Parts: sequence; structure tokens; C-alpha cells
Amino acid sequence: MTASAEHLKALLSAHAAGDNDRFYSIAMQVAAKSARQGHGKLAVELRELIDSAKAEKIPRLSPTPVVQPRGELANLLTAGYSDTRLDDMTLAPEVRLLLDKVLHEQRQRGRLERFGFTPVHRLLLSGPPGTGKSMTAAALAKELGLPLFTIRLDGLISRFMGETASKLRTVFEAAAATRAVYLFDEFDALGADRGAGNDVGEARRILNSFLLFLDQAPPESLVVAATNHRQLLDRALFRRFDLAVLYAAPSTEQAIEVLRRRLSGMSTAAVRWSEFAARTDQLSQAELVQAAESAAKRAILGGDDVIEHQHVADALDERHSLRHA
Ligand SMILES: Nc1ncnc2c1ncn2[C@@H]1O[C@H](COP(=O)(O)OP(=O)(O)O)[C@@H](O)[C@H]1O
Ligand SMILES: [Mg+2]
Repeated sequence: MTASAEHLKALLSAHAAGDNDRFYSIAMQVAAKSARQGHGKLAVELRELIDSAKAEKIPRLSPTPVVQPRGELANLLTAGYSDTRLDDMTLAPEVRLLLDKVLHEQRQRGRLERFGFTPVHRLLLSGPPGTGKSMTAAALAKELGLPLFTIRLDGLISRFMGETASKLRTVFEAAAATRAVYLFDEFDALGADRGAGNDVGEARRILNSFLLFLDQAPPESLVVAATNHRQLLDRALFRRFDLAVLYAAPSTEQAIEVLRRRLSGMSTAAVRWSEFAARTDQLSQAELVQAAESAAKRAILGGDDVIEHQHVADALDERHSLRHA
């Protein structure tokens, strides 16, 4: 073995950073060292491998997906692997059915494609803030073992203005190359600026490039567009999605389930859940999670992991007063 431990470590870190140039230059050092140590044949083989890898422009040397966007892409989207599962979410039964269908078709897409059908892969999620739209994209990614790329359209548009359409094309090209879940968050930003005194021509270019992208999106990636303001979206846009999922504020039972689930690691025997119907009214799933966390912290800092009824009641009242502040 002619590669030293230092070389191996350097190779791995260059690989992890996706730095191909550094990777190849270290590999060349290993080849040079082999030659110096008299392993001429190995040195030649190594150089040939490096040359052919460079010639093929192999972006990564392993089949793992590119997770950290680099270069220009790093400014446009965030990437990660999620730990959220669909079972961690409290969902209306009809929403859950639709999401299960998406997973089923994606998992069985080989069978569908053999007969010329494509799996559902373009989803429009809409509903009030804090009802689980972004979380759903993360959960779908986790269930399918895919990385999640998030593109915040509102940020993108205000930051790049006249250049947005061309920046989006960069994102779309990456999407065609990497199987992943692509979440276009605050999706209404695409339609909202028309007529609001902004550059109408640019708004149309952005919309058109997005429509083109939707038409061409590879069916093995999921494109998830999420919006709090469905009414701002162009009707023509709706038809381009395979599936529209409507999110809503929780029913009383769902609200209590959100609370219970978030507090499942604590002792809650003293909590009279059914008394919280009025207190949970009007709160979103996100606000309920925040209330549960606040109750838990109060209990922990108060000395133990036992949640008293009053901890939860107070935390819910506090959420309501924040909402009306
Ligand atoms: N349906 C849900 N079930 C469980 N927790 C939820 C749900 N919806 C929202 N949450 C909680 O609220 C947080 C924010 O939700 P998010 O998905 O960002 O809402 P949205 O994108 O609809 O505005 C989540 O990280 C999660 O803690
Ligand atoms: Mg969101």
C-alpha cells in the first residue's frame, strides 16, 4: 500500500467536500509517491485512472447523491436529509391517503414505467401557515430515502430580481441531474408580484421557466410546491400539477393528538386532554407543537418530567395571547 493514512484522509475529505480538483491532485501525489517507491506499474495505472475519470467529468466518485449544493447553487437552495416520517405527523385522513398514494407510485415507478405510465411527481400543497406543508416535503424525502432541496421563492425573487429566471434555470438543471425532493416554498411569490408594480416581464419569464420545468421534471424526483395563498396562483398553473393537497387547521381531535404526540416522551397521566377543546381552537399544528414544547420545558425546569394539566393549559393560553398580541 503506497497511499499513506494522511493521503487517505485527504482524499476522503476532498471527496466529502465534492472538491474534484483537490481529489485528483491528491491522487496524483499518491501516484508520484508510488513511482518514487519503485511501484512503476501502479503509478501508471493510477495516472490512467485519474485521466479517464477527469475525461469523463465524473462529478462524484460514488453513487451517493450530491447533497451540499456548491458554487452558485449554494445561494439558491438549501439541502439536507430529513428525519421526519409521515407517521410523526398528524394529518387529515384524506391528506394521508393522497401522500401514501404518492409514495406507493414512486416506489413502484418501475412497474408503471414499463407500461408507459409515470408516477405522480408534481405536488401542489396549499393551506394556512403552520399546517405541515414544509414538513410534508421533508417527510416524503425521508420515506423515499431522498435528499430534500428547498428553494425559497420569495427570497430568490427579492434577492435576484431581474436575474431570477436565469437563477431558476440553474436550479432546474440541477433537479434534472439529481434524484431528490425539490420543495419550492412560498410558491405564491411566483404569481403574487404581477400587477404589484414589479417588473411584469420578469415575472412572466419566471413563471414560464417554472412551467417548462414542471413539464420536463423527471418523474423520479418529486417537485413539491407549497403555498399559503392558493388564491394568488394562476389557474393555468394548477393544471400542471399531478396532485393538489389541501391542508387545514386541525380538528379538535387532531389538535389534541398533536399535543400528545409532542409530549409522548413525558409523563402526562395528570393531563385531562378532553378539556382542551376550547383552548386548542384556532391554533395551527405549528402553534400546538410550540405550546407542547413550552409546557414540557416548564415541567422540566420546574424539577421533573411530569406534565401537570395546568402546564399545558397555561401554554395554550399563552399561544392564544401571542396570536392576538
Ligand atoms: N400536521 C402536522 N403534524 C405535526 N406537526 C406539525 C404539523 N404541521 C406543522 N407541524 C409542526 O409545525 C412546524 C412547522 O410546520 P410547517 O410544515 O413548516 O408548516 P407550513 O409549511 O404549512 O407553514 C413543524 O416543523 C412541526 O413541528
Ligand atoms: Mg412552510
